[in-house]
Amino acid sequence: MAKGDVRNQAPPTPRRPARPAAPRPLPGGASRPAIAGKTRPALPPGPIPAVPAATRIRVVSGPNLDLLGLREPEIYGTATLLDLHAELTSIGAARGIELECLQSNHEGDLVTWVAHAGREGFDGVVLNAGALTHTSIALLDAVRASGLPVVEVHLSNPEAREEYRRRSMIAEACVGKVTGFGPASYALGLLALVDRLRGGAELRTSSNAGRRGGV
Ligand code: DQA
Repeated sequence: MAKGDVRNQAPPTPRRPARPAAPRPLPGGASRPAIAGKTRPALPPGPIPAVPAATRIRVVSGPNLDLLGLREPEIYGTATLLDLHAELTSIGAARGIELECLQSNHEGDLVTWVAHAGREGFDGVVLNAGALTHTSIALLDAVRASGLPVVEVHLSNPEAREEYRRRSMIAEACVGKVTGFGPASYALGLLALVDRLRGGAELRTSSNAGRRGGV
């Protein structure tokens, strides 16, 4: 048998289960007094409460957003996509939000990442589809197929730009949209999405306290 191969080795000698130590007899056969505070309190009846699972959000960026920081900085700013992902991750970490940040220049990748997000254990999606926002019915279908709340975000404000950017193909299937705030659009979209998932507990103000979901 090769060294390190454990398949045919004899099973290890089973260890004797540890026996609780017997109390030492008191001199003269006297009984021990109960010691206050030494007994473990009984567990309350009913199921043991589960530790709440982290909220899992997928952040998806589309074509040309890999060039953030280099591409048209007068419109999109100088922060890179890595900077943006690091910022979102720290915002998420402080709030018990687990993030997966993805980028692709290929429509099919975006379709798969969005449509399958729910089956892959995510609770919602923040989506900057780049130029595919204005053209992709496949991505619209993917948002619907996901069955998840999806927030559309843009660094710039496409509605204040060229005519062909004013139409979003995905907006009608998204729960909301944040545009025009640079990288903060992603952060605001993330917080708004988590607020919605947590029934208004994340961005509570006196006017929305207790309100659930959106309009
Ligand atoms: C963008 C706006 C789109 O019109 C453009 O095609 C992009 C970036 C934004 O984040 O502002 O690639 O989605």
